[in-house]
Amino acid sequence: MDKVIVFDTTLRDGEQAAGGTLNIQEKLEIARQLEKLNVDVIEAGFPASSPGDFEAVKLISKELHNPVICALSHANPKAIDRAWEAVNGAVHPRIHIFLSSSDIHLLHQLKKSRDEILQTSRDTVMRAKKYTDDIEFSPMDASRTDPQYLYQILKAVIEAGATTVNIPDTVGYAIPDEWGKRIEGIFQNVPNIAKAVVSVHCHNDLGLAVANSLEAILHGARQVECTINGIGERAGNASLEEIAMAIRTRKDFFNLSTGIETTHIYSTSRLVSELTGFLVQANKAVVGANAFRHESGIHQDGVIKLRETYEIMDPKDVGISASSLVLGKLSGSHAFKERLAELGYSLEEDDLNKSFQAFKELADKKKEITDKDIESVVAQQKRTVAEVYHLEKVQVSCGNGMPTASVRLTGPNGEMLADASLGTGPVDAVYKAINRIVCVSNNLTEFTVKSVTQGIDAQGEVLIRIESDGVTYTGRGADTDIIVASAKAYMNALNRLLSVKKTAKKQG
Ligand code: KIV
Ligand code: ZN
Repeated sequence: MDKVIVFDTTLRDGEQAAGGTLNIQEKLEIARQLEKLNVDVIEAGFPASSPGDFEAVKLISKELHNPVICALSHANPKAIDRAWEAVNGAVHPRIHIFLSSSDIHLLHQLKKSRDEILQTSRDTVMRAKKYTDDIEFSPMDASRTDPQYLYQILKAVIEAGATTVNIPDTVGYAIPDEWGKRIEGIFQNVPNIAKAVVSVHCHNDLGLAVANSLEAILHGARQVECTINGIGERAGNASLEEIAMAIRTRKDFFNLSTGIETTHIYSTSRLVSELTGFLVQANKAVVGANAFRHESGIHQDGVIKLRETYEIMDPKDVGISASSLVLGKLSGSHAFKERLAELGYSLEEDDLNKSFQAFKELADKKKEITDKDIESVVAQQKRTVAEVYHLEKVQVSCGNGMPTASVRLTGPNGEMLADASLGTGPVDAVYKAINRIVCVSNNLTEFTVKSVTQGIDAQGEVLIRIESDGVTYTGRGADTDIIVASAKAYMNALNRLLSVKKTAKKQG
């Protein structure tokens, strides 16, 4: 088989990253984009872990038709039944069962013997097999598991009906050469291995997740588990875009392919960054802001003469447009729509109209509207959550006296609410004034402001995280006035918090 199956776990392991919580509509939106990207499998969530995950897997299973939709499950009957309940509406459903296999986990965490784990692995695969033929099994912490015991488990779960066996480097401990040998050992020592697809799932604690995934492919693995922008638990997972572009760019070396529609990589990366609030570092391979920028004169000279002198990938192949077209306040909806299409967006009529309106408002304040501005305008529409409170007006007076803010919000029943507060600075004063109206306790844990583009009239984009009852909520807002952007970001995070609390109240 010369195709590598791309299993995307952005919505499961990716969302597990601290502070990366997504709501159900955002998950669906990312899932739709992953379908466009043509990933083979979408791990949509972990249904037994929360009602929100359950609902998201159910909705994605109903709405998407092409990829396999996978639900993660603990190795116990109740969790498997719950996973199936969530995923059974999918055209191609998969249940993915995981259970630790390393001695360190067995002795100190699960307090179970190897025989017990072996038996549970077998039994739970058999239970899931009653529901669907497509079963994946992961012996968690495989990189630190005794190889002989790992072979035993794999043989047993394949006999029980697992069609994919996933070998996780759960703690990102493996070194490429060693990891390749481990995969080779599996092919040599598990007698029924040909009956299953061998997959790998590498974490990035030592910065080796992509290298380990590629090494595994070289040794026969044919599924890779990865996430957009490499987000995930702790230091994250192997990055989908890096694996896909390595296989494509070095076809001469790997002689393999993926089904990834690479021209959708950049827009997918932007969407995931926008919705999770995880910024992409500038020097990130493939999708970072500097990935195709040349600073050195020698390099610039080379690229002007022949792009390939210093670029091993064509930015167009990952969906980064070469267009330098700049829109302004005289640009009409047609030009706006065309630019959106070139940037990889296809918006529903309503979102399109709202984005165009926001674009016009921005064009009144800013002479030139660049691609980054357009992305920011669209992102603001996308990140709009069902608003309990809406920000109408914000006014500050600041300096080295007493920073003061007054705000006006529309409340849940359409009522106008206004209040004012002093603060240590203008943003603090705005947040305190909002708090006096909204009255929901929370702690601000992160506040970042960055400029969307260059220039004195650039929009400022604010990213904040607030914490309430142990849960983190992300908020973003953009405006040419950074105080307004800060207020929008805070309202965005508060509305997320309020809508989660409202749903929890209804359910419980
Ligand atoms: O890292 C890990 O081991 C996992 C499993 C659930 C596959 O995420
Ligand atoms: Zn993982």
